[in-house]
Amino acid sequence: MSTPHISSQMGDFAKTVLMPGDPLRAKFIAETFLENPRLVNNVRGIHGYTGTYKGVPVSVMASGMGMPSIGIYSYELYHFYGVENILRVGTAGGMSQRVKLRDVVLGMGACTNSNFAGQYNLPGTYAPICDYTLLRTAAEQADALGLHVEVGNLLSSDTFYDDNPDANPAWRKMGVLAVEMEAAALYMNAARAGKRALAICTISDHLLTGEATDAETRQNSFLDMMKLALNVAVEMDKL
Ligand code: HPA
Repeated sequence: MSTPHISSQMGDFAKTVLMPGDPLRAKFIAETFLENPRLVNNVRGIHGYTGTYKGVPVSVMASGMGMPSIGIYSYELYHFYGVENILRVGTAGGMSQRVKLRDVVLGMGACTNSNFAGQYNLPGTYAPICDYTLLRTAAEQADALGLHVEVGNLLSSDTFYDDNPDANPAWRKMGVLAVEMEAAALYMNAARAGKRALAICTISDHLLTGEATDAETRQNSFLDMMKLALNVAVEMDKL
């Protein structure tokens, strides 16, 4: 079986899939953390691997950048490959004083400037939220790892380069912690499919201070986030 964007067989993906944006990061996670990683997809260079972590089957596949891209891949994983849990592991730009460079943020909700929800014909606005079991498990596993996490609202933006200088301050006033480009579409697809999703983001740059992480620090904070996500996958397998 193949879908338009994934050339894998049913059963090739584990119950839980970690999704970084970058295909090379998917490859890195598979080669660094998974036992016996097997390449299960490489359409458009979107590396997807399945292996085990602490003996539990886990997959990792890139989402690409932006809501249309993660919208396609998460839809196909949930609906055609029996995937139950998707953990986005990505970067975000800090928007609030509550978050610092290298912090890990669990996206409890995801505001958006996108019209992704338009497809559902709702008679109002939709509030995209993560799955509570994944969120609670991630918070517990972060404690167990001694890793500080912030929990709150993300902004999933359709634009990285935005023409409106008033946009970010307006979101900041509403308590949004960080901006990224995928979580809201992932949360909506999960809700519609009756499945679970959570975005875990490392603050790679800060919009208030203009600071950005250098490559080495970025890599180290990624490792923390990935270990957290992998431990969540192990816990979810026990449910
Ligand atoms: N904007 C959107 N997505 C991001 C950013 C940002 O500043 N930093 C990391 N991902």
